[in-house]
This record gives sequence, C-alpha cells and structure tokens, in this order.
Amino acid sequence: MSTSATNFGPVKITETVLRDAHQSLLATRMRTEQMLPMLSALDKIGYNALEAWGGATYDTCLRFLNEDPWERLDTLKAHLNTPIQMLLRGQNLLGYNHYSDDVVRAFVRKASEHGVGVFRIFDALNDVTNLRTAIDAALKAKEKPHVQGCLVYTVSPFHTNETFVELAKQLQEMGVHSICIKDMSGLLKPYVAEDLVRKLKAAVDLPIELHTHYTSGFGSMTYLKAIEAGVDIIDCALSPLANDTSQPCTETMVATLEGTERDTKLDRQAMDPIAKHFLQVKKDIMKEFNLPGYFDVNPKVLDFQIPGGMLSNLVNQLKAMGAADKYQELLDEMPRVREDLGFPPLVTPSSQIVGTMATMNVIMQANGQPRYSMVPNEVRDLARGKFGKTPKPVKPEVLAAMKIKPEEMITDCAVEDAKAPKMADFRKELAAKKVEKKLAGIKASLASVDADIYEQVRDSQIAKVLDEIPEEDVLSYALFPQVALDFFEKNGRL
Ligand code: CO
Repeated sequence: MSTSATNFGPVKITETVLRDAHQSLLATRMRTEQMLPMLSALDKIGYNALEAWGGATYDTCLRFLNEDPWERLDTLKAHLNTPIQMLLRGQNLLGYNHYSDDVVRAFVRKASEHGVGVFRIFDALNDVTNLRTAIDAALKAKEKPHVQGCLVYTVSPFHTNETFVELAKQLQEMGVHSICIKDMSGLLKPYVAEDLVRKLKAAVDLPIELHTHYTSGFGSMTYLKAIEAGVDIIDCALSPLANDTSQPCTETMVATLEGTERDTKLDRQAMDPIAKHFLQVKKDIMKEFNLPGYFDVNPKVLDFQIPGGMLSNLVNQLKAMGAADKYQELLDEMPRVREDLGFPPLVTPSSQIVGTMATMNVIMQANGQPRYSMVPNEVRDLARGKFGKTPKPVKPEVLAAMKIKPEEMITDCAVEDAKAPKMADFRKELAAKKVEKKLAGIKASLASVDADIYEQVRDSQIAKVLDEIPEEDVLSYALFPQVALDFFEKNGRL
C-alpha cells in the first residue's frame, strides 16, 4: 500500500445484513424475529452503522411479513447502540411519488424519533432540489442523527468523476455530515473508484463512504482501490448474504486489511457465530419463499446498466405480453431510451420508468408502430421534469413523439411538490376509510331513515377518530395506501 495512505486511519464498515443484503439476495423477506437473536452480537462488533431500514423493507413488512415497520425500528433500537441507518429517496421518501415538504418533514422527524441514527439520502436523478427538504429535516431532528448525502453513481457521456465531485460540493454546502458514493448496480470500476475517491477527498472535507454491489464482479477490487485512495467507510455484508448482487463480504474485507495501516480492528472471530445464524436464516427464507438465494455475476450489466433484480422483472413483463423472444431487442432498447430521456441513473423509481418505456417501445415496434407511440404517465412525467432535472435535457424529438407541449414542461419540480397532499389530507382520508368501514353494516338502514343522516353520522365520527390515528399509520398510508389499508384491516386497526 502506498505510504500516502498512512494518515487515513482504520477503515470503518457499515454492515448491510439487516437491509440491503437480504433485499438483494432474499427479496427483503427477513423478519424481525430472525434478526433478534444476533442484535447484541452485531452491536458488539463496532460497526460504523447497521443498515436496517428503507423502501423495500418498509413495503415488505406491511405487504408480506405482517409486521409494522415502525415496531421493527423500535425493536432494533431497543437492542442496539450502534447507529441504525436508513436509506431515504429524498422527496420520494420510500414511495414512488413526490410528497409535499410537510409529509417529508413529518416522516424524517418520526424516523429519527424511532431510532434512525444515520439518514442516507439520495435522489434518482441527482437533482439536489429533491434532497433539500429531507436533508434539512434530518439536520433539524432533535435526536441529532448523522445526515449523509449520496452521489448516485452511473456511467454516461454526461457523468464523469468531475460532475460527481461538483455534486459532492453542493451536498457539503447543504450541510451533510458525509458523502456516500451509491453504486447500486456495481458499475464502479476499481481504478475509476480510486480516481473518484482521491478527487472527492481533495475537494470536500467530509468522510467518504462507498456502497457497491457485486453484480458485475468488481466489488472487493473496487473497495481495495478506494481504500488505497483514502475512502473512510465501506458497506459490507456478512458472508452468508455477501457478494452476487449484494455487497462484498465483511469478513473478507476485514481479513484483507489485517496488519495494514488501514486495519479495521474489527474482530473477525466474533463474526463467526453471527454468520452461522444468518446462514440458517438464509436457508429458512429460501425454503419458505421458494427463492434461489443467489445470482450469477453478470458483467453484461456494464453494457445495459440494468440492475440485477430489474432484469428478471423485464423478462417477466415481456413474457406477460407474449413477447419473450424480444429479450435482445429490449436489452438494446434500454440504453437508447435512457439516452433519449437525458441519461437518468437507473435506480428506483427511474429504473422502472425507463424499463417500462423500453418494453413498450419494443412491443410497439413489433406491431409496426413507431417508438413512443404509447407512453405511460410516469414516463411523460419524467420527461416533463416532474421528478426533477434529468442530467441532460430530454431530446426534443422524443418530447414531440410523446406529444408533450412546451406549456406542460415543469422547470421547478418543488412547485409541483407543494401541490401534493399534506399530512392533514392523508389523515382525513385514512379516518374516512376507518369510519366508512365501521358504518358499512348500518349504512343502508341509516340512509333509509334520512338520506343525509348517514353523511352526518359519518362526518361526526371522522371528526372523533381523526386525532386518535397515530402519525406512523398516517405515514404508512401516505407511502403505500392500499398495502397499508390491507395491513390495518388484517390487524384490526381499520
Ligand atoms: Co444497495
């Protein structure tokens, strides 16, 4: 290792076994009870943070595991002193829409109250407009959580290490405590990582964390070059849930650095029983949910930039439309659509938007129709600028093909966000659902007495329950309306 690394100190590790690792390999199906036996052991390791919460974990808790995500957070907090990290999609929070500032602030405040100690905040388009409110809310939370801003890493003719450095400077100005290079598709090559980390260390005065996935096989090489360049923190997963489409292996990275000037000083032997436990958990989840538990390394991601999980979704979409033979056409169409739409990085939700558009273009062309002759609403919204600025402007001929008029273009998406429903609107909606459900049995008899009486009873009951609804439930409803309603109903909360 070069002598210039002498002053960098020990590499810190953020452990992802409770979030990204099982999201990447086990469809996010790990239950709180499967985490519980190892929490105190994990806590003793000395990790920088334990990543445990995010969009997919929240959604899966409600949708598949019949768990309240807020209760999971409380349980984790009760057993951990190590900071709990969550991944937040800026103005999208954990959902697929943009929310009003008031909902963003309420969510961040509640998450901090329940024990989130590190807010990792990103925007799919790297548009800082979409990060401002979430970052500000996290900075103002009274528990004083750590606030991290993300560079969503992607490769395009627009994106260079210099453009990422500029973004990092903007994030520093916004007051974040650290910067994360978020390489969600594993596109960051080792020597590029070295150059990027070196430039970031020179340009900003903040710790740099690197998050990658092993999808195309670079993982630990990329970490090693980044470590030589001075990266402060790396995201790793314990061995049973490491590599493939997940993070590089914790134990391997710890062993690699043992005895060097960047030794993590973490006890690898203490990780052994934890790894054994999660190996069994992995086997149990694979069996229960009929999951393969592994993914092949796929260097083709470098050409198509399609995250691993998405590739199988696209194949299923094609099959559903009876066009399974159009797979290669779809792989070729994806980068074209991405270029047409101004090179958005492919991460939720932009990955789904570009993927759906590419699928439709392939189907349209197979039926003798031109590309963009049918355009889903969310693609139009992306092209109109509703989700923020795309890295480059959308091609004019594509806007024309989508029949988007100049007056439909949105130059400031924050103005649009301000029109989105507020906490009070979501609370009222949810209260109405509760009351309507309760009155469903007597609605007909009430109405037979007097047409207006049902409405009167309903409204007075809504007023009564309105303030009883916990803010956590309002947030679940705001983020995943139908999923949350089903969950509340199943648990006698509707
Ligand atoms: Co990730």
